[in-house]
Amino acid sequence: MNESLFLFDAPPVSYAIGEGALTYSRKILEPFNEAVILVDENTEKHCLQVFRENLPSLKVKGVIIINSGEENKKLEQAIHIWNEMTRLQVHRDSLLINLGGGVVSDIGGFAASTFKRGIQFINYPTTLLGMVDAAIGGETGIDFSDLKNQVGLFSDPHAVIIDPVFLTTLEDKHWQSGFAEVLKYGLILDRELWRMMYGMHFRQISDWNKIIIKAAKDKIDIVRSDNLEKGIRKNLNFGHTVGHAIESRFLKSGKPITHGKAIAAGMICETWLSSKVFALECTRLEEIVKMIDINFKRLDIDESAIPELLELMSHDKKIRGGKLRFSLLRKLGKAVHDVEVDPELVRKSIQFYVDQKKCD
Ligand SMILES: NC(=O)c1ccc[n+]([C@@H]2O[C@H](COP(=O)([O-])OP(=O)(O)OC[C@H]3O[C@@H](n4cnc5c(N)ncnc54)[C@H](O)[C@@H]3O)[C@@H](O)[C@H]2O)c1
Ligand SMILES: [Zn+2]
Repeated sequence: MNESLFLFDAPPVSYAIGEGALTYSRKILEPFNEAVILVDENTEKHCLQVFRENLPSLKVKGVIIINSGEENKKLEQAIHIWNEMTRLQVHRDSLLINLGGGVVSDIGGFAASTFKRGIQFINYPTTLLGMVDAAIGGETGIDFSDLKNQVGLFSDPHAVIIDPVFLTTLEDKHWQSGFAEVLKYGLILDRELWRMMYGMHFRQISDWNKIIIKAAKDKIDIVRSDNLEKGIRKNLNFGHTVGHAIESRFLKSGKPITHGKAIAAGMICETWLSSKVFALECTRLEEIVKMIDINFKRLDIDESAIPELLELMSHDKKIRGGKLRFSLLRKLGKAVHDVEVDPELVRKSIQFYVDQKKCD
C-alpha cells in the first residue's frame, strides 16, 4: 500500500488518512446521492474550493455556514443548521459533510445525529487538532450554560477523511494548539512518535503526513478499545486536569488562551506529578519539560493563582470522593488512569511550573 495514505475500515467507521485521502474519498461518497456541506466562514474561504475541485462528481445540495470559534459552538447555531437542513429538504438518506476544525465536527455531528433521528455524516477535518483528535471518536455536542460540551451524544461518523492538504492556510496558533495533543500521544502511548519529534519546534517538522497518520492511528486505537470512556480512553486526559483549570481561569479573566497552550502547561505539571507518584526518572522529566518549553512559552501564572486553579479542578469530571484523579505517566509512552492524588501534591506541581524549576 502507498505509505503516505493509510486506509482502515473499523465498522461502522471508515478512515482514510494522509496525502491523497481527499481524492480517495470519492469511493466512500459513491453510495450517497447528495450531500450538504457544513463550513465556518474560514473553511468556506480556505477549504471549500479545494474540496469541490477534488470531488467534482459529488452532488452538493447546499452549503451551510456557521460562525467560527468556540463561542459559537452553541445551541443557536445547531438550530441554524437544523433550519437550513429543513429548508434544503435534507432527508434520512442525505449526508452531512463537516468540513472544518473541531467546532464544525462537534456541532455538525450533533446536528446530524439529532436531525430526523439521525442522518449520516462524514468528517473532513481541516485543523491539526481536528485531524488527530476532534474528528475521531464519535463525541459530538455543543457548549451549554457556560459549560463546555454540556449537551451532546456519542455518535460515530460514517467516515473520517484526513488530508493534510487543508493545513496550508492554518494559522500558527492553531498548529501549535493541535501540536500539544500530538505531543500527548507520544507521552501516553507512542515512544516512536515522541522520538520523531523530540528536540524540534513544530515549525521545523517537515514530515507532517507521517506524524498525522501516526497520531490519528493512536487515537483510533484508543477509542476502538474503549468506546465510552470506561477505561483506557481516560489516558487521553493526561495534562487535561490541570490544563482545563488553567484554560478556564484564562477564559474567566477575559484573556482566553488556546486549548493547546493550557494543555502544554498542564502536561508539565502532570509530568512532575508522575515523577512523584511513579518515580518517573529525573532525566525523563527534564526531557519532557524541555520539549514542551521549546514549543510553548510559559504562561503568565504566579503562585497567587494556585488556590483558584485547585478550586476549578474540584469541579472536574474525574473527581471522586473528594480526591482528584489523574491520568499520569508511569514511564515515557505508558500512561495509567484513575490515579488519586493528594491536593497538596497538585499544588506543588503548579508551583514547579511557576518556579520553572529543574528536577527536584
Ligand atoms: N469531539 C472530540 O473528541 C473533541 C476532541 C478535542 C477537541 N474537541 C473540540 O474541538 C474544538 C477545537 O477544535 P479546533 O482547534 O479545530 O478549533 P476550531 O474548529 O475553532 O478551528 C480553529 C480556527 O481555525 C479556523 N480554520 C479551520 N480550518 C482552517 C484552515 N484549513 N485554514 C485556515 N483556518 C482554518 C477555524 O475557522 C477557527 O477559526 C473545541 O470545541 C473542542 O471542544 C472535540
Ligand atoms: Zn485536548
